[in-house]
Amino acid sequence: MSPALSRYLEVADATSELARDVSEGLAKTPKQLPPKWLYDARGSELFEDITRVADYYPSRAEREILVRRAPEIAAATRADMLVELGAGSCEKARVLLDALTAEGSCRTYVAADVSESALIGSTATLTEEYPQLRVEGVVADFETHLDLLPAGERRLLAFLGGTVGNLEPDQRHDFLAGIASILGPHDAFLLGTDLVKDPERLVRAYDDSEGVTAAFDLNVLAVVNRELDADFDLAAFEHRSVWNAEDEWVEMRLRSLRDQKVSIGALDLLVAFAEGEEMRTEISAKFRRRRVEAEAAAVGLAVQHWWTDEAGDYALSLLVPRA
Ligand code: TRP
Repeated sequence: MSPALSRYLEVADATSELARDVSEGLAKTPKQLPPKWLYDARGSELFEDITRVADYYPSRAEREILVRRAPEIAAATRADMLVELGAGSCEKARVLLDALTAEGSCRTYVAADVSESALIGSTATLTEEYPQLRVEGVVADFETHLDLLPAGERRLLAFLGGTVGNLEPDQRHDFLAGIASILGPHDAFLLGTDLVKDPERLVRAYDDSEGVTAAFDLNVLAVVNRELDADFDLAAFEHRSVWNAEDEWVEMRLRSLRDQKVSIGALDLLVAFAEGEEMRTEISAKFRRRRVEAEAAAVGLAVQHWWTDEAGDYALSLLVPRA
């Protein structure tokens, strides 16, 4: 039996959202391209590759914490449902599901992601691996569809991979407020955050020596070409990773290698890029414990547990509604 799939984000909505994001972003100075669109089928695949490159430590660090702490997470939450936001390949969920099913409480796994192609394969595999679980895929955008997630008695919502750091500070506040508003008294929220550290390591994590991250970043140009009838020349841009010490985030940028004009057919737009001009595609904010605590407190949540890997590179925190 194939797993249930609910769609809240239609392909047509996604295309018009992309069109809006691209026209707004390119009108800014400096120009920006919206990060959500890095994850088409090809982007999701490339991201899976990133999680395996040596320079990209966050995935390994997060996994180390999950493996070590999953039994504690299961005991602390006794969740009947795991809801993973931005699930992608569902790889991380397995560790939690093993612990939650051993604990005996968990009945349902809900994988939510904007990428339908990523969800279809992964939920089918999980259905086979966990025959006792009800597995459900939800094609949704965690910024707008939080209240459509299935209800449960004791839900564990998980937002892993440091993805919260890809939101701008005000978006992040709104997202956390949205989470707080849907958390019932027995629900909990597991949040993965990468931590502030030596800038050299941070920059390398987003510009790996194998060039996988560069390919991932450049893929957004291919998405715009395909979806909005544009003619970006991928060879005329170069990927850069820059540490912004003031805001404590890494910026991913695409730099134009020459003076050029790009046509975006669907928007009836001709955009000029100067040689050396940089366009921002993504931020990845890095955290300190007190910032996570302050941002949680600002929306009425408390950090019940804070776990890091041995090296102190990455943190998982378990947030609950404040009593
Ligand atoms: N959530 C990931 C992170 O911030 C996303 C990511 C990893 C990413 N590498 C990237 C986004 C490179 C854009 C470019 O770590």
